[in-house]
Formats: sequence, C-alpha cells, structure tokens
Amino acid sequence: METLLQKAASKPLALTHRELAELLAWPDAKALFGAAYEVKAREVGRTVSFRGLVEFGNICRKDCYYCGIRRSNGKVRRYRLDADEILREAEWTFKAGYGSLVLQSGELADEASVAFVEDVLRRIHAIAGDELGVTLSLGEQTEETYRRWREAGAHRYLLRIETSSPALYEKLHPADHSWETRRECLRALRRCGYLVGTGVMAGLPGQTIDDLASDIEFFAAEDVDMIGMGPYIPHPDTPLGKGVRWTPEDAKKRLELGLRMIAVTRLHLHDVNIAAATALQALDHEGREKGLLAGANVIMPNVTEKSRRADYQLYAGKPCLDENASVCRTCLERRIAAAGETINWNGRGDPPHKRLR
Ligand code: 5AD
Ligand code: FES
Repeated sequence: METLLQKAASKPLALTHRELAELLAWPDAKALFGAAYEVKAREVGRTVSFRGLVEFGNICRKDCYYCGIRRSNGKVRRYRLDADEILREAEWTFKAGYGSLVLQSGELADEASVAFVEDVLRRIHAIAGDELGVTLSLGEQTEETYRRWREAGAHRYLLRIETSSPALYEKLHPADHSWETRRECLRALRRCGYLVGTGVMAGLPGQTIDDLASDIEFFAAEDVDMIGMGPYIPHPDTPLGKGVRWTPEDAKKRLELGLRMIAVTRLHLHDVNIAAATALQALDHEGREKGLLAGANVIMPNVTEKSRRADYQLYAGKPCLDENASVCRTCLERRIAAAGETINWNGRGDPPHKRLR
C-alpha cells in the first residue's frame, strides 16, 4: 500500500490514470497529505508566496451555471473599479511585500475593456517595474488581446479549464461556451509567453473520481506552470446551486475532496505552483492552511476594497468580507506561522517548473 505514495513522491509524472484515481481515494488521508507536503517542502520549500487579488469588476459576458456573477443573475450589484482605484490596490500590494498581483474580473472582450486593462497594466509597470509579478485572470480572449496585455506588462495568466471532461463542461455551461475554445486559449497564452495556470473545481455534480484523475493528467499534458483548484460550492442564485441542500457534513466532505486534489496534483507534478484557493476557506476557517499542508504553496489574499467584496461572490460563504487588506495581511501572517510555514516576502514566486522548459 505504502509503496504507491513512495513511488509518487520519488519521481514526477510517475502515476498512471488508475494510480491517480487510487490516490484520490486513498483511505489514509493524513498519510496522503503528509506525502504531498514532503514533496512540496523538497521542491519549493516550506514557504508560501502571496498574490494580492484585486477583483476589479463583476460585469461578465458569460453565463456559467455555477457562478454567482453570471450575467443572468439579476441580484448582483454590478461594478467596475476605475483605474485609479486599481492602481491604489496594486501599490498597496507592492508595498505590503506580496511580490505579485492578480487582476481578476468578469469576462469582457470589447475594445474599451481590453484597452482599459492595457492602460492599467502600463501604469502598474510604471510604479513597480518588474519587481511586482502581474497575473491576469480575465477569461477567454483573442490571441491578439493576450499579446497586447503581455506587452503591457502581464506575465502570468490564470484560466481554469473547470473540468477536463468536455461532456461535463457542456452540462455546466450554456451551448455557446466551448471547452475546446478554452483549451485553445490556454495554448494561445503559452504562445504569447505567459506562465500559464489552470485548474478545476472539485465536487461538481456528476463529476467522478475518474474525471478528477483525468484533470490531473490534463495539467500534465498541457504542461502548465500553476494550478488553482478549489472545491465547488453551490451558489443559491445560480441554476446549478438553486435549492441545493447544503449541510456542514457536505462542506466537510467537499473540503476534503479539494485537499485530496491538491495533494495528488502535488504528488504527480512535483514542482508547479499550486494555490490554496479561497473557496477552501469558505468551507473551513483553516481551509487554506490545510491546503498548504496538503501541498499548496500559494495564497491569494484579497486586497480589494472592503466595500466591494460582497458584490464579487462566485460562491456562497465567501470569507473576509468585513476585513480590509491590512487586517487580512496580519491575520494571514499569524495563520501561516501557526501552520509552520514561512512567507516568501517580496518574491515574485515564479514556479520552479518554468526553469525546466
Ligand atoms: N464554487 C467554486 N468555485 C467557483 N468558481 C466559480 N463559481 C464557483 C463556485 N460556485 C470558480 C471557477 C472560476 C473561478 C474564478 O472561480 O473555477 O474559474
Ligand atoms: Fe482575511 Fe484572515 S485572511 S481576515
């Protein structure tokens, strides 16, 4: 039994589909998380990198059935921060020593929105130069747009595939959302020279352990640098989450599944960056710390102006709604020290993986 954990830990990409599935269902969760943590400690150190997350707008052209800010959700108060506000938060992030910034918003692709992001990127670069890593999480765009943003100073991009199963993807999205397009976008991003991150949600309705094993194989096949994964959490104002009964028992199980995905991904890929998604914390106060101890090495503290946070709810139970960025910073420092990890202050925190390419 133990040998499968050892095999996984000793060599990257050593697991077959069946073995990935077997590890995902590994009876001794503690041993699984421990083995993944050892690989993390060896490959990236017992350290965490921070990305200051700016959720700069919740207007979205997409209509994903699971997402709280989907365009058909009439209950959402829509907003977009102006450039000066984003700049302020970027500057705060830089001065706080987070080393890296993520700009995320609903998906918009009209020229004005594309040019807006381009302008913001240039202004951030004027303040922080190359010392601040800049990651975008702005959905599906044309290769031309990706190129413009890359030239304006972004160097990493997060675009979750959500699930590696095209059939499941189809069930979670309206007919005009395409899995193939999304995969094409990931490849376009690579061509444009980004460090590329992707990820999935764990615990989607209809998703099997086999699907999750395939997700990890997808990460390997696309040779991504960063993984951001989180448990799926029903949002009551969405088609997928409406009327879903959700108990503390469900939350516990979903959290564990999210942690298992992190652990097995670490055991298979070894040297990538893996984020402990905020969705983990929505299910458990210490969800993100548990993520670190299961093999994650990145946390994305929210640095968005407190008054806006409630309007950016992708799932139910989003944490830290009443905290401002400096409260979160102190709170996180304490949590991370308690987990026995150190913080990689001022480091851009690029994954070791890219050095291999
Ligand atoms: N539960 C968990 N994660 C969600 N996301 C969107 N809606 C939910 C939800 N209900 C995730 C998607 C998306 C990322 C920005 O947020 O994976 O890519
Ligand atoms: Fe936000 Fe603790 S991380 S208050």
